[in-house]
Amino acid sequence: MIRASSTSEFRYGVILHAGLLLFSLASVSAQTRPNAKDLLRQMTLEEKVAQLSQLPGFPIPEFREQAGMPEDVIRKYGAGSVLWVSDPKEINRWQHIAVDESRLHIPILFGLDVIHGYHTIFPSPIAMASSWDARLVESAQTVAAREARAAGIAWTFAPMLDIARDARWGRMVEGAGEDPYLGAAIARAQVLGFQGTQPGVPDRVLACAKHYAGYGAADGGRDYDSSYIPEEQMWNTYLPPFKAAADAGAATFMSAYMDLNDVPATGNRWLLHDVLRDAWHYKGFVVSDANAVHSLITHGLARDGQDAAFKAFSAGLNMDMASGTYLKYLAAEVKQGHIRMQEIDDAVLPILEAKIRLGLFEHPFVDESRITQVLNAPESLELARAAVQRSVVLLRNQQQLLPLDKRQIRSLAVIGPLADAELDLLDMWGSLNKPGPTVSILQGIRNKAGDGVRIEFAHGPNIRRDIPSFFENQPIIPLKEQPQQSAEEVRKAFDDAVAAARRSDVAIVVMGEIALMSGEAASRSSLKLSGDQEELLEAIVATGKPVVLLLVNGRPLDISWAAEHVPAILETWYSGSQGGNGIADVLFGDANPAGHLPVSWPRSSGQLPLYYNHTRTQAPEDAPDFTSRYWDAKSTALYPFGYGLSYTSFSYDNLKLSQAEAKVGAALDISVDIANTGSRPGDTVAQLYIHQRAGSASRPVRQLKGFQRVTLAAGAKQTLHFKLGPDELQFWSPSRKQWVVEPEQFDVWVGEDSTAKLHSEFRLIP
Ligand code: NOJ
Repeated sequence: MIRASSTSEFRYGVILHAGLLLFSLASVSAQTRPNAKDLLRQMTLEEKVAQLSQLPGFPIPEFREQAGMPEDVIRKYGAGSVLWVSDPKEINRWQHIAVDESRLHIPILFGLDVIHGYHTIFPSPIAMASSWDARLVESAQTVAAREARAAGIAWTFAPMLDIARDARWGRMVEGAGEDPYLGAAIARAQVLGFQGTQPGVPDRVLACAKHYAGYGAADGGRDYDSSYIPEEQMWNTYLPPFKAAADAGAATFMSAYMDLNDVPATGNRWLLHDVLRDAWHYKGFVVSDANAVHSLITHGLARDGQDAAFKAFSAGLNMDMASGTYLKYLAAEVKQGHIRMQEIDDAVLPILEAKIRLGLFEHPFVDESRITQVLNAPESLELARAAVQRSVVLLRNQQQLLPLDKRQIRSLAVIGPLADAELDLLDMWGSLNKPGPTVSILQGIRNKAGDGVRIEFAHGPNIRRDIPSFFENQPIIPLKEQPQQSAEEVRKAFDDAVAAARRSDVAIVVMGEIALMSGEAASRSSLKLSGDQEELLEAIVATGKPVVLLLVNGRPLDISWAAEHVPAILETWYSGSQGGNGIADVLFGDANPAGHLPVSWPRSSGQLPLYYNHTRTQAPEDAPDFTSRYWDAKSTALYPFGYGLSYTSFSYDNLKLSQAEAKVGAALDISVDIANTGSRPGDTVAQLYIHQRAGSASRPVRQLKGFQRVTLAAGAKQTLHFKLGPDELQFWSPSRKQWVVEPEQFDVWVGEDSTAKLHSEFRLIP
C-alpha cells in the first residue's frame, strides 16, 4: 500500500534524485529507491560507522557511557538499526528522528525477536520442528512476518539454528533439535516463511540465522559456556542448518556469544570470513549477539574497547548489537590506519542494500491504521491451532486411553501447575510483543468437552526455579515465577489435587516447566519434574484413576517413572496462543497426533549429551555381549529420535532401491510402500536413514537423509519415493580435509523413527 508522502519521504526523493522535476507518488517504488553505492559516496566515516551499529531501544547505561543517548546518535549520524522497540508509535517516533533530522535521512531497520509469532503465537520452534512439516513451518513464519511488518518490525532475529544434543541447555526450545538434516530443512522453511523469495515485499521481514555457530554445544549444557567442536563436526553437524539458511537467501546472520575452540564467535575469522564469505560466498550482513563485541574483552580476546572493535570488525562482523563499541572506536581504527575505508564501505553496503530492498526508503513509517486488521486475521488463529495439532507428540498410549470419548466420560479432573497457564504457553519470546489472547489447556478442554462433562481444576503446588531468572524483572518481559508457598499451602494444594482426581473419571495432569525455566540463561543440571510434581503425579496414579500426562516444556524431561506407570503421555511443548484448543482437539480425537521427536529423549540428565547419530564404538550396543555402557542405567534413549505415536497404525514394506550399485555422483531412487493399517485417518512421518560402512572416517551409525509427512485414510496405501544423491551421501572427511562421496557399501532404513528396521543396502563404485 502506498501512503501519502510525508515531508521527509518527499525530501528523500529530492535528495536522491535531484535531477527529477516531478516526484510522483504513483511511480514511487522504482524511482525513489536510492542506489546504495551513491549513498555510500555521500556518507562521512561517522555516518558509516552509525550504519554498522544497532542501538538499544531501551535504556542500557553501559551503552550510554560508550556512545551517548541513542536518539542523539541518530540525529547526528543516523543508525543502522534499533533493537527491541516494539510499540508502533515509538517506532514512528524513532524513525522520524532518523528520517527527518539526520543529515542523510537514512531510515532505521527495526529489529526484534519474532521467533514463533508476533501477535498470533505459534508453538515454540522445537514443537514446530516436531511436526516434521516444512510447509507448516513456512506458513507460520509467513504469518509472523506479516504481523511483525505491519507493526513496523522489518528484521527478526530468527531462525535459531543451533543443533542441541544436551537437554540441560535451556535454549534447546528455540531450535529444531539434534539433527543437521531436519535442522537444515526447518531452517530453509523458516527463512522462506520470513522473507519469501523476494525479501523486499511489504509483508515480509529479513531473517537472521543465529547463533552462528556452535552455541548449542555449550560445555555441560551451561548457557554461554565454551564450545569445543572439531572441524568435522562443525561441517557435518553444526553448520548444515546455517548453510541451508544462507542458500535460502537469509539476509542476515548473528554471531554467537560463546567461545568456539577458544576464539569467541564474534571475533572468529574462521567462522565469519573463511566459512561464511569464502566457502559459502555469503553476501548478506552479520550482526553480533547483544553486547558481544564488548564481551570480547570479558572473554579475554580483546585488550580494550578499541581492540574489541578491531577484532570483531576484522573477523568479518558488520554490525555491533547494542554495545556501542563500534560507535566509540571504529572511526579511530580507520584514522589510525588499522582498517581501510574500503573495508568499512564493504561492511556498510549490504546494510544499505537490505534497507533499500525492504522498501524502507519509500515507506519508513508504520501505518498504524492497518495493524489491528492484520493482527486479528482469523486464518492466523486457525493456522496456529493446526500447528498445535500437528506438533504434539504422543509418547505413550496404553490400552488406547486416548482419544477420550466425550460420550463415556462424565467428569474430568484437570490438574497441575501448568493447566491454567497462559503466558507460559508462549515461552519467553512469544510472551514479549504484546501477544494476542492465549487459550490455556484448561480452557481448551472446557471449550471442547461441553456441558455434559463436569470439569474440576486443581492447580497443585506451585513450581519455581531454585535460582531466580535474570529475565523475570526485565521491562518488556511479562513472565513471572509462581509465588512462593508455605508448607501448609503446599500440603493443601497437593491434597486438593489428589482429591480432585479421586472424584473424577479421568485425571488430565499438566506438568513440566514454566516458561522462565527454559530458554536463555535457563540451563539445568537435572531434568527431573521440579518441585512436588513427581510426587503429585505418583499420588494421582495411586488413586487408580486413568491418568493422561500432558507435558508443557521446552526440552525432554526425566519421565522415566511416568513412562512405566502413566498410561498416556502427550508432549505438548510450549504450544502458543491456540495451545489449549489444539491440545483438546488431540485429546478428544478431533485431530490425530503425528508429531515426532526432533531429539533423542534421555532417561536422565546423566546420559547427556545424547544423540542417535553417533559413531560406532569397538563395543557397539547391538553386539551380542554388550549389556550396558553404564552399570546403573541403560545407555539407550527412553524414546528415540524421530519417535511419535498415532491413534492409528502404519505398516512399512517393500523397500526398493533403483540400483544395487551406482557410480559415485549418481542418484538412487528409494521407494517404500506405506499403509494405514488402523481404523482412523492419520499422518505418518516416513524417515529415511543411511549408514556408510567404511571409508576415510568412521561414519555415524545412522543419519537421517530424507523424510516425508503423509496423510493416509484408514486402510489407504501409498508408495513414497526418496532420492539419495551426492548431497545426501557426501560428508566432510577429517582425514581428507574436504567434502567427499566415497565408493563404499551403504545401509538404508526407512521407518517411523531412528530405530527403523526395514533395511536394504547398496554400493557406490568409482
Ligand atoms: C540475546 C540472544 O542470545 C539472542 O538470541 C537475541 O536475538 C538477542 N539477545 C536480541 O534479543
